[in-house]
Amino acid sequence: MSDTASNKMWGGRFASGPDAIMEAINASIGFDKRMAAQDIEGSRAHAAMLAACGVISDSDAKAIREGLLTVLSEIEAGDFNFSTALEDIHMNVEARLVELIGEAGKRLHTGRSRNDQVALDFRMWVRDQCDAAIGALEAVIRALLDQAEAGADWVMPGFTHLQVAQPVTWGHHMMAYVEMFARDLSRFRDARVRMNECPLGAAALAGTSFPIDRDMTAAALGFDRPTANSLDTVADRDFALEFLGASSICSMHLSRLAEELVIWSSAQFRFVALSDRFSTGSSIMPQKKNPDAAELVRAKVGRILGAQVGLTMVMKGLPLAYSKDMQEDKEQVFDAADSLMLALAATAGMVADMTANRDSLAAAAGSGFSTATDLADWLVRALGLPFREAHHVTGALVKMAEDRGCDLPDLTLEDMQGVHGEITEDVFGVLGVENSVASRVSYGGTAPVRVREQIARWRAAITQA
Ligand code: ARG
Repeated sequence: MSDTASNKMWGGRFASGPDAIMEAINASIGFDKRMAAQDIEGSRAHAAMLAACGVISDSDAKAIREGLLTVLSEIEAGDFNFSTALEDIHMNVEARLVELIGEAGKRLHTGRSRNDQVALDFRMWVRDQCDAAIGALEAVIRALLDQAEAGADWVMPGFTHLQVAQPVTWGHHMMAYVEMFARDLSRFRDARVRMNECPLGAAALAGTSFPIDRDMTAAALGFDRPTANSLDTVADRDFALEFLGASSICSMHLSRLAEELVIWSSAQFRFVALSDRFSTGSSIMPQKKNPDAAELVRAKVGRILGAQVGLTMVMKGLPLAYSKDMQEDKEQVFDAADSLMLALAATAGMVADMTANRDSLAAAAGSGFSTATDLADWLVRALGLPFREAHHVTGALVKMAEDRGCDLPDLTLEDMQGVHGEITEDVFGVLGVENSVASRVSYGGTAPVRVREQIARWRAAITQA
């Protein structure tokens, strides 16, 4: 048993201080100091509201609000002595405030609890991260739009099963990611709307008997309204789970793009060259240029989804309202947010910097009999064959080309007529990849004309937001 004095913030009923192990397991200051700015902003709004409602005097509120700014500047200057004995950021800030301004500081905690305080601070912190994610996603989308625009009509192979399927345009491939990241962006926006209710005033769990004005603090802190049930308010961490959910899906998308960059930058593909700024060398193999940033982006989804699973497990089965388990919410969310922001920034940088190799893309576009579907479609359109039969005839022609080690356009008309007598010279018009992609004009298709429409649509949407 430690013989230190009992905690000065709550130790009135305690005869002795906590055991060192109790202090170690209880303290969150090591990580929740990241919420200092939110804590102080919330406390300043609370003090102003208490004065406006006549709960504390104007002069006390003024002293508190100014004193809190001093505490903030000390923290920002790295000139603050964080104490583990004071457990968390809330009590560290309050204790320092009392040191600085005396009695008035002791009135700050009127009509609130650390339970609504931590719910507020964390919500504000996560809300900031939603804004940061939205901004970072917009940067990724802009980089993809630039790439899409530069190569809106460049041909490349489209894959299914990582086997060449049909030719597509580079612009279309870039725009596929724009769609994914735009959905991610809307998920962060949706989550932000839902979380934007102010917990302050729920107090410990039941509300308070002081005549507080929750609308006032909600408005001062940029919330749409106060939360409506005090028990739910101090027990809820959905907002963090939604942020993690949106982050998990977004990092999964980032991981898919990263994987393509890894594959595409390999010597076997040479579809893109990553910039030196986003590559690394090998300490032993002088020729190497490794896509480490892409690989790390590919990996980040592991810890981000891990955080989502971890926090869900912390919350599962907790009775209402607050339990100390909930202090375990923060570290994983902090780590996930840091990982996501880094992955988004690295992706924006890699995509903006990379150079697509138009010639390699074009050479690969025609390989693997990528226009076989165009040939089958031509047999349907020009000769009136049922699609299943056209599929069969085309299969026979593919086999012929494969046996000869050539591509479909290299077969002669006589070769083709040997398989189906009615085939005419016109067929060669659909075997070229440029014609193939230009023909896919259905809404959402890969034709450059459709791709350019989508680029214009997203450019307008992203700048508007
Ligand atoms: N450090 C605590 C947390 O992060 C603050 C809330 C403490 N509340 C309490 N009743 N002990 O959850």
